[in-house]
Amino acid sequence: MYTWEELETACNECNKCELHQTRTNVVLGVGNRSAEVLFVGEGPGENEDLRGEPFVGRAGKLLDDMLELIGLSRKHNIYIANIVKCRPPGNRDPHSTERELCMDWLRAQFSLIKPKIVVCLGRVAATELIDKDLKITRDHGKWYDKDGTIFMALFHPAALLRDPHKKPDTFVDLKSLEKMIKEICEKTYE
Ligand code: URA
Repeated sequence: MYTWEELETACNECNKCELHQTRTNVVLGVGNRSAEVLFVGEGPGENEDLRGEPFVGRAGKLLDDMLELIGLSRKHNIYIANIVKCRPPGNRDPHSTERELCMDWLRAQFSLIKPKIVVCLGRVAATELIDKDLKITRDHGKWYDKDGTIFMALFHPAALLRDPHKKPDTFVDLKSLEKMIKEICEKTYE
């Protein structure tokens, strides 16, 4: 079991997979380390790699707008992490070995944060964390209980930028998330 400080140091020194060779920064995560709600994306893109923070490009701006709609913010009441902490070159999907090797870091983040609700942003996070057979177009917005922690998947903000027709569905999913937070979280909306 790591402290946050130990986790940060170990993660910054990680060379378990080849992504370490091309990264500028390890992107561990951002937000409130005692959040009840954890968002998990896929992996850093170019902007995130340069800044060392998740979701700072166009998709990140959209994510912040989506969060604001339901009273959430990365500065105050949620934490945002990714499945892999280093940028896959050319923004390719992270390979399964890279995901597996990086999962220890996310597991450590789960142990430290102990979230009540986990929101998977997009297919990669949802198939890793909820169900390998999950189909994001079919299963977004559904709730899954896994040992007392509840999970849902949203369309990835980059997918919403590519296809704005998905936005109304995401609005419904966000309202469902807001309702669930009000039901089971104690401090998120304090
Ligand atoms: N897309 C992701 O999945 N994660 C980021 O941090 C940025 C873009």
